[in-house]
Amino acid sequence: MNDRLLRALAREPVDRTPVWLMRQAGRYLPEYRASRASAGSFLALCSTPELACEVTLQPLRRFALDGAILFSDILTIPWAMGLGLEFVEGEGPRFRAPVRATADIDRLGIPDPEDDLGFVMDTIRAVRRELDGGVPVIGFAGSPWTLATYMIEGGSSRDFARAKTMLIEHPRELHRLLELLADATAGYLGAQVRAGAQALMIFDTWGGVLTTPAYHEFSLEYMRRIIEHIPREHDSRAVPVVLFTKGGGGWIESLAKSGCDAVGLDWTVDLGSARARAGGRIALQGNLDPATLLASPARIRDEVGRILAEYGAGTGHVFNLGHGITPGVDPEHVGACVDAVHELSPKYHRAS
Ligand code: CP3
Repeated sequence: MNDRLLRALAREPVDRTPVWLMRQAGRYLPEYRASRASAGSFLALCSTPELACEVTLQPLRRFALDGAILFSDILTIPWAMGLGLEFVEGEGPRFRAPVRATADIDRLGIPDPEDDLGFVMDTIRAVRRELDGGVPVIGFAGSPWTLATYMIEGGSSRDFARAKTMLIEHPRELHRLLELLADATAGYLGAQVRAGAQALMIFDTWGGVLTTPAYHEFSLEYMRRIIEHIPREHDSRAVPVVLFTKGGGGWIESLAKSGCDAVGLDWTVDLGSARARAGGRIALQGNLDPATLLASPARIRDEVGRILAEYGAGTGHVFNLGHGITPGVDPEHVGACVDAVHELSPKYHRAS
């Protein structure tokens, strides 16, 4: 197996910097759009293991990526909790039964991962079979706080008015919801590891909208509990966990102490100073601005070079974007990015 990704996450020597990209499977690929059309909807695509497996593998056929991220969504957990999810064209996710009152929290049960979310485990098993050791499979889930924002708001939000009001006015209720989500997520990620996921990532897309104390109390604390409860080894190999809080650049020191193996960073963070602040305790993943992929291949290569130089020599860096690929990107530009990482990174690893 090409285990560069696992080695870099464990801060072991590598020959070049491993690379994978958030949303590497998605609408920028014509073959993804064709698969989604044949599935009928995004949720049908996620919940049909053969199709989700196919879509997971599509970017790997085009680009020499060092990891395969499971094709699914963070909202599968609230979906399995019975909130009635739909994806509205041009608008995003919408829950038919959002969490608005105490009674709504009382009604929520913890989904059984092999039963209620068995399609995710079947997808992982299918991807492992198809890859046959090629590159590691990355499993994932949303952070409890990020899931809670969607469940409370009923969908995407600009200002998180309802979620923040609950945080300020009814913190105990929010804690009850977050605890439930942390339990559900720990069980879900554990099942992903047993199904064959070789690394895990927790997406905390909306942790960065919180104040520093609220971030620690309502987001980081629950990610820490999840990490405490998931198997950290499978088949005699460590299963590294990556935490990604978008907008979390100010909290690297606390993230580094959470028990995770790596922290994902958005493009606002300087990788060199992040590395110094992390103090060698964790690996770092990131952090090309996804908008760079709209520029010419030559400019993309310059930016890749800048990021590799910013991190500097030695292991512990996984190249990625600072957030997901946007739908309008030309697949050839993604190829230019991946190739640039391959070509420009070996010189940072020669001494190791
Ligand atoms: O390639 C991969 O990265 C794996 C698949 C993946 C998807 N969603 C597929 C998807 C992953 C890891 C996610 C995570 C996810 N989902 C996050 C956290 C990461 C982030 O982007 O911040 C969040 C917040 C969600 C929730 C979600 N899913 C939203 C808000 C939307 C609508 C906005 C959008 O981009 O369309 C989705 C839909 C979604 N998830 C798509 C894909 C490929 C697009 C669906 C389509 O085909 O129309």
